[in-house]
Amino acid sequence: EQAEKDGYAHYMEKEIYEQPRALRNTMTGRIDEAGQKVVFPDLQLPAETIRSIEKIYIVACGTAYHAGLIGKHVIESLARIPVEVDVASEFRYRRPLFGPNTLTIAVSQSGETADTLAAMREAKRNGSVVLAITNVVGSSIAREADEVITTNAGPEIAVASTKAYTSQLIAFYLWGMYLAQEKAALAPAEIASLIQSLQQLPGQVEDILAHAQQLRQFAEAIKDERHLFFIGRGIDHAVSMEGSLKLKEISYIHSEAYAAGELKHGTLALIEEGTRVVALSTQDALHEKMISNITEVKARGANVLGITHEDHVDLHRSVDDVCLIPKTDALFTPVLAVIPLQLIAYYTSVVLGNDVDRPRNLAKSVTVE
Ligand code: G6P
Repeated sequence: EQAEKDGYAHYMEKEIYEQPRALRNTMTGRIDEAGQKVVFPDLQLPAETIRSIEKIYIVACGTAYHAGLIGKHVIESLARIPVEVDVASEFRYRRPLFGPNTLTIAVSQSGETADTLAAMREAKRNGSVVLAITNVVGSSIAREADEVITTNAGPEIAVASTKAYTSQLIAFYLWGMYLAQEKAALAPAEIASLIQSLQQLPGQVEDILAHAQQLRQFAEAIKDERHLFFIGRGIDHAVSMEGSLKLKEISYIHSEAYAAGELKHGTLALIEEGTRVVALSTQDALHEKMISNITEVKARGANVLGITHEDHVDLHRSVDDVCLIPKTDALFTPVLAVIPLQLIAYYTSVVLGNDVDRPRNLAKSVTVE
């Protein structure tokens, strides 16, 4: 087993560091040689069907569900098709509405999650075309779906998912861009520029990983906390949810992810002297709003770690510590912003002496409903 970990202390650490390669592999073969277009050589769906999609459901569980939340932002923003994201275990029981041109996307690392499989069967029963985004070729979900986008992240062993999540994000970016391209919702030059930014992501992840030690210090500082908050707006809120889940899964410290603008409607009551808050601010259009939300928690005594990109070093003035990530397109920030959050969860679990790769009560793949 030690040999399989390749010199890393845990599978999770190894998988965090494998992300640049996983992202590159997920892009491979899906961008034309000139870097101008997204291509899906294996896709059978007629162009006509793609152009007629009017509504999209995304169904998934756990981390894959969090990838789906980002997928909604991406598809709605790029292709202007309305998207609903459902926790797979809830989907069947709420009598979802299907039109003649509904696409359902099932997201699953393992391709074996019973709830996701059941949700996708429900979609098929209702006449929806099903696209699977999965990491395991030949899995149940891959076999039953009409179309498959394989994330080529390689085997993921640690229960807490890392490289599968960021690879799922890449799959959503490619799919969102592909829909936009086929529907002519974006100009060719806009697609080409997005592709250029997308291709820079693996190198940018490497840059963040080179400074991982800063997060180890943060983990030391929070290891005795009873609870923590992750706040962000828009796409940052969705990333916060994944950061919070990671921390809960392997450190057993309770945390909540909150839409930063919603704090004042209740949760602000929980902020007291010394409460730890991780605040994400990667969206230029929302940065000022985030600063005022941070000021609200600071005024109640919170100790804030801000995560932002290089253009917003001014965040220093409003928080206790800053973690900088490289700049990318607004839609692509989750791939970068989640890396420090994965490292915080990982190091916290390590300093607490927990079983990082096999957290209590959890399984890598849940094949019961
Ligand atoms: C389990 C794992 C989670 C995972 C979820 C969905 O609960 O512990 O890490 O996100 O299943 O798994 P899937 O294989 O469908 O992505």
